[in-house]
Amino acid sequence: MRTQVGIIGAGPAGLLLSHLLHLRGISSVVLEQRSRDYVERRVRAGVLEQGTVDTLVEAGVGERLLREGLPHHGIELRYGGAGHRVAFEKLVPGRSITVYGQQEVVKDLIAARLAAGGDVRFEVEDVALHSLEPGLDSGPYLTFGGERLDCDVIAGCDGFHGVSRPAIPEGVLSVYERDYPFAWLGILARVAPSSEELIYTRTERGFALHSMRSPTVSRFYLQVPADTKAEYWPDERIWAELKARLESVPGFTLTTGEIMEKGVTPMRAFVAEPMQYGRLYLAGDAAHIVPPTGAKGLNLAVADVRVLTEALAAYFADGSTELLDGYSAACLKRVWRAQHFSWWMTTLLHTFEDDDPYGRRLQLSYLDYVTSSEAAATTLAENYVGLP
Ligand code: FAD
Ligand code: DHB
Repeated sequence: MRTQVGIIGAGPAGLLLSHLLHLRGISSVVLEQRSRDYVERRVRAGVLEQGTVDTLVEAGVGERLLREGLPHHGIELRYGGAGHRVAFEKLVPGRSITVYGQQEVVKDLIAARLAAGGDVRFEVEDVALHSLEPGLDSGPYLTFGGERLDCDVIAGCDGFHGVSRPAIPEGVLSVYERDYPFAWLGILARVAPSSEELIYTRTERGFALHSMRSPTVSRFYLQVPADTKAEYWPDERIWAELKARLESVPGFTLTTGEIMEKGVTPMRAFVAEPMQYGRLYLAGDAAHIVPPTGAKGLNLAVADVRVLTEALAAYFADGSTELLDGYSAACLKRVWRAQHFSWWMTTLLHTFEDDDPYGRRLQLSYLDYVTSSEAAATTLAENYVGLP
């Protein structure tokens, strides 16, 4: 078998890349180790930047997103017994975010690929990368389940735990990382949101986030110890903790309901540089992850894929490698901005066990600044909705 671009992973990065390449007349095969059902049900991110929405709409996969996605023009920061709105319409006029579940994006992309006769293979075992070294006469190839797929280029879109990044020889990559001493417990609940906008809450008990998926489904996150397990959190304990943190302003009541899904996500930052080796290009979580407080993971994956598509289109049009050679550098500027923003939001809103009273006062002072200075609030707003 042969294709132009062999894509490992059917997450948002791999599927969108396959779709955008198809629109440019470039062939690809997507190899995914999980089942279609599994990837379509995997509950993860929910905040799409303006640029992400624009990309999906322009690519013709935004019809349901425009119909069912929830446009948001602000978020609330809640701390010290009061809520403070960060008003996008005032701070970053004309720019907003859309709340639409990642698994809905994945469903839409899979449907589009299959409708166009795209080759997306699920439950593929033992994917391995070969002949990646720069300057070889023969191209790279992938093996899986006893088969061989020859490619001009390989795109590693297989997430943080995938096989692509480890296939790069030792010594090539520089790795930058930070583990946080806490995790997020995320739940999806069959209950109407108790707020129209997202609420990011800092309390002495820890951080909590109220998000949503639809008028009847809410999404919540709690800062929890890094070594916790979802089974330590029966439903009553989750609701009690969410109430203790979110009902920290007068008059706000959290409505509870049936919990449909729960999971623990470690909080970690990671960047591997460069995002390429020979004819292998990494995109999305395969190359970098951020703590989710800034809602940037999925948006970064989409931004990488946009850059990679342009570079591959130029390469397949006339063999020019300039954009491909500059792929990593072009992506890393945005990646590091998102790293900083995600670190900043995380530091601003979480409780750190080893923090002393002085550190807690600094945190509160910064929150007061962000919620009272238009300059500081604009910093938050323009990063949150996504820089151009
Ligand atoms: P992924 O979505 O991870 O897709 C990679 C795909 O590759 C997967 O389908 C995987 O099964 C497949 N794969 C892996 N290894 C192989 C292999 N060897 N062979 C074949 N296929 C393989 N971001 C937020 O902004 N907010 C959140 O609340 C949030 N929650 C998250 C919760 C969890 C548990 C995780 C892991 C991430 C979360 N993120 C969140 C981050 C966001 O979901 C990711 O940034 C986004 O999924 C990145 O997309 P991707 O396509 O690069 O990677
Ligand atoms: C959601 C996730 C995030 O990480 C975030 O910062 C905001 C919202 C969500 O899943 O809805």
